[in-house]
Amino acid sequence: MAEKKIIAVVGATGAQGGGLVRAILNDPTGGFAARAITRDVHSEKARELAKMGAEVVAADVNDVESLKRAFKGAYGAFCVTFFWADMSPENEKAQATNMARAAKDAGVRHAVWSTFEDTRKYIPLADNRMPTLMGKYKVAHFDAKSEANREFTDLGVPTTFLLTSFYWENMIYFGAGPQRGPDGKLALTYPMGDKKLPGIASEDIGRCVYGIFKKGDEFVGKTVGVAGEHLTGKQMAAALSKALGQEVRYNDVPADVYRSFGFPGAEDMGNMFQFKRDFESLYTGARNVDASRSLNPRLQTFEGWLARNASRIPLK
Ligand SMILES: NC(=O)c1ccc[n+]([C@@H]2O[C@H](COP(=O)([O-])OP(=O)(O)OC[C@H]3O[C@@H](n4cnc5c(N)ncnc54)[C@H](OP(=O)(O)O)[C@@H]3O)[C@@H](O)[C@H]2O)c1
Repeated sequence: MAEKKIIAVVGATGAQGGGLVRAILNDPTGGFAARAITRDVHSEKARELAKMGAEVVAADVNDVESLKRAFKGAYGAFCVTFFWADMSPENEKAQATNMARAAKDAGVRHAVWSTFEDTRKYIPLADNRMPTLMGKYKVAHFDAKSEANREFTDLGVPTTFLLTSFYWENMIYFGAGPQRGPDGKLALTYPMGDKKLPGIASEDIGRCVYGIFKKGDEFVGKTVGVAGEHLTGKQMAAALSKALGQEVRYNDVPADVYRSFGFPGAEDMGNMFQFKRDFESLYTGARNVDASRSLNPRLQTFEGWLARNASRIPLK
């Protein structure tokens, strides 16, 4: 039997990388093997991946030498950064640079870099419809990732640029689910107006990435957007009402109000939603649901995701 092609997966114990590792392991005849990268090979999540059949290796995205070792001998590398760990776009760019260098050093045949649009292309810093953050960003966690694209291209790493969508799991882990108002009623508060928000079950991102690695060369140099469904706030609230068995209203708020909510990253998130709202056709157009399903036939709809996960959404 031909030797399996190793995919080295950054963030393997997390959402995007974890989905990819499981997709590889769930397809034992697919010709690929998963190398799960973690900072702690002894953690419960790391041991679980090893038990499932992944090779588990240690590396830190802040340490390029550790990444070079972790990528060595790999056919492919999945590269992702962790903006919300410290909310530093400068660190995020440095980490992406490390991954691009390690991919080059290891001579990987195919890297997938989880990036986003540079929102400043559409809303220059001088455009006051939204505040400039940290002196040089509009949506810091988008713009920094986009800036880092060139680290891969300049080094000639054969790369697919992946555009992801809003995880529906944000309703479980990120406080982005329905909240009970003073009237006791549940409301979903996003500053999206009547525009559509591309969303996805985070597990499906990794499954789509696996589809990209399977297709191989035809995706090198391409930008690929993935989404499970594009839904308005009203449509999401209706699906939530059905799944939770109680009414959820959609509460559209101005982006300025969302930015003022005060939680860490609220300004960045407010700008992000506003970008998605004000550039709806560009943003949804870059994330084709049918194409995502062709990469990942198990792609979930919001209703399907809710059937499995609605009970996990904390309702205060
Ligand atoms: N939330 C959303 O809706 C959404 C949507 C699209 C894109 N994103 C983007 O997704 C990115 C995060 O990806 P994710 O959600 O898959 O991450 P995640 O679930 O938070 O997982 C991160 C994993 O990466 C590992 N990690 C953290 N710091 C590391 C480091 N310094 N070196 C090596 N590994 C490290 C951790 O594993 P160990 O502890 O095992 O090392 C952790 O399990 C963010 O940049 C965000 O902007 C988020």
